[in-house]
Amino acid sequence: KTLYVPCDSSAISLGADRVAAAILHEAQQRGIRVNLIRNGSRGMFWLEPLVEVDTAQGRIAYGPVQTKDVASLFDADFTNGGDHALSLGLTEELEYLKRQQRLTFARIGITDPVCLDSYIAHNGYQGLNNALNMAQADIVKAVTDSGLRGRGGAAFPTGIKWNTVLNTPSEQKYIICNADEGDSGTFSDRMVMEGDPFVLIEGMTIAGLAVGASQGYIYLRVEYPHAHKALTTAIDKAYAAGYLGDSVLGSGKAFHLEVRLGAGAYVCGEETSLMESLEGKRGLVRFKPPLPAIKGLFGQPTVVNNVISLASVPIILDKGGDYYRDFGMGRSRGTLPIQLAGNLKRGGLVELAFGLTLRELLYDFGGGSATGRPIKAVQVGGPLGAYLPESQFDTPLDYESFAAIWAVVGHGGVVAFDDTADMAELARYSMEFCAIESCGKCTPCRIGSTRGMELMDDIIAGNDLSKNVPLLRSLCDTLLNGSLCALGGMTPYPVLSALNHFPQDFGVEA
Ligand code: NAI
Ligand code: SF4
Repeated sequence: KTLYVPCDSSAISLGADRVAAAILHEAQQRGIRVNLIRNGSRGMFWLEPLVEVDTAQGRIAYGPVQTKDVASLFDADFTNGGDHALSLGLTEELEYLKRQQRLTFARIGITDPVCLDSYIAHNGYQGLNNALNMAQADIVKAVTDSGLRGRGGAAFPTGIKWNTVLNTPSEQKYIICNADEGDSGTFSDRMVMEGDPFVLIEGMTIAGLAVGASQGYIYLRVEYPHAHKALTTAIDKAYAAGYLGDSVLGSGKAFHLEVRLGAGAYVCGEETSLMESLEGKRGLVRFKPPLPAIKGLFGQPTVVNNVISLASVPIILDKGGDYYRDFGMGRSRGTLPIQLAGNLKRGGLVELAFGLTLRELLYDFGGGSATGRPIKAVQVGGPLGAYLPESQFDTPLDYESFAAIWAVVGHGGVVAFDDTADMAELARYSMEFCAIESCGKCTPCRIGSTRGMELMDDIIAGNDLSKNVPLLRSLCDTLLNGSLCALGGMTPYPVLSALNHFPQDFGVEA
């Protein structure tokens, strides 16, 4: 009997390790032989720990399972798909999953994350096999043709970035994976690293071949110990099987890969401070230009891409740029792994082509607020993203449509708030966040964020609003236009969107 209990940290935090141990114990007591596989999470967190069993009809799911349920599951013959109060039917038929278009997440929740054979059996390494028979410029062209844009948040075309690195001559080039996933309400990078680490390794190897880089680094936030373990295990296996090393699959082309841990600074997710940190220095933001693509890590041409961008590359090289490009709308091509979080009934991971609306996400997938109260606002794109009011819930998820309403898609995190949220308090929090995380290099952010916090305290206290509200707008203008990087430069998004859409919370007229 083959059973699956996720090893994803969200499932573990909800008791998956205890459930796995209880299943093994109960099976032994009853003399039933089971093959228990720790898979990634399917991304339906309200059902975790989600236990699945292989049957002739397909996988049947049970959840959320706690240790107290294990004996009754065995009584109900669940290892043969028996009926139980927690049975959810065929996993693939669950509405939340069935409606998705999983390209980057194709294997997550299905395979054993650190089993190379399982990866290969599920179309793994086909992209790399193709890339090994292609000219460097053709690999870059496939990525350009796919329309893939940086999924870390900035949405810069990945193929153009790679092309700059390819065309910058140097003895040594680098591939950096930005795995410092720091945005509030985001977890898609983590799920990929924990649930399918080989897809990231393959994507980075393809990037290395494409631009002529022989060394890659994954800059991983220290708060992700399970991802660290999965990545290092998978990297060791990839080396042992010849997928990494001095001659990748006997091609004569080298690609080496290491994981480096950050130390908890949000600003180290900014690409230049990330490189400072990788070089062993304090995470201070660098001036741009020079672009990292020309002069990056240790002064060499460097590709810096987010986890999801790199993990999207294998399927592009496997199925072709056009295949990927066929998903999406406008200039937002392919799929986006959206992360539903905050006050929602059904938080989780939804991978879909660009173009669906926030309303569909919040209600069809998210099931509305967990508290049952009306959803007042959603923040999309992390702590530096704008707050959107109900009147904007019909905006399609597309980089340009969001830019048109002065919002950002960012890394695809969606955090919902019900009508008890105080938007002025949230605006204050944005200033506080900026003050805490500021690297201190430029004045608007270093000083402006602290002044902004003080100003918000005054506004919340109702002091001199006719002077303080315009002053807040003026300060935001300085932050927006005078900051060196996105941390200071985007803090006005949550602050001003809260003020503009919810002026009553600031004690001012619309
Ligand atoms: P950016 O717009 O300055 O740059 C985007 C990328 O394109 C960079 O890698 C840059 O080096 C590259 N680039 C620009 N022109 C190029 C050219 N001609 N050739 C080659 N490469 C070129 O944006 P930045 O500052 O890198 O990122 C800001 C974004 O980060 C924000 O929009 C925000 O959404 C996101 N963000 C994401 C977080 C996360 O946890 N994922 C956390 C905080 C912010
Ligand atoms: Fe540093 Fe803030 Fe300036 Fe960015 S905006 S360089 S984090 S001080």
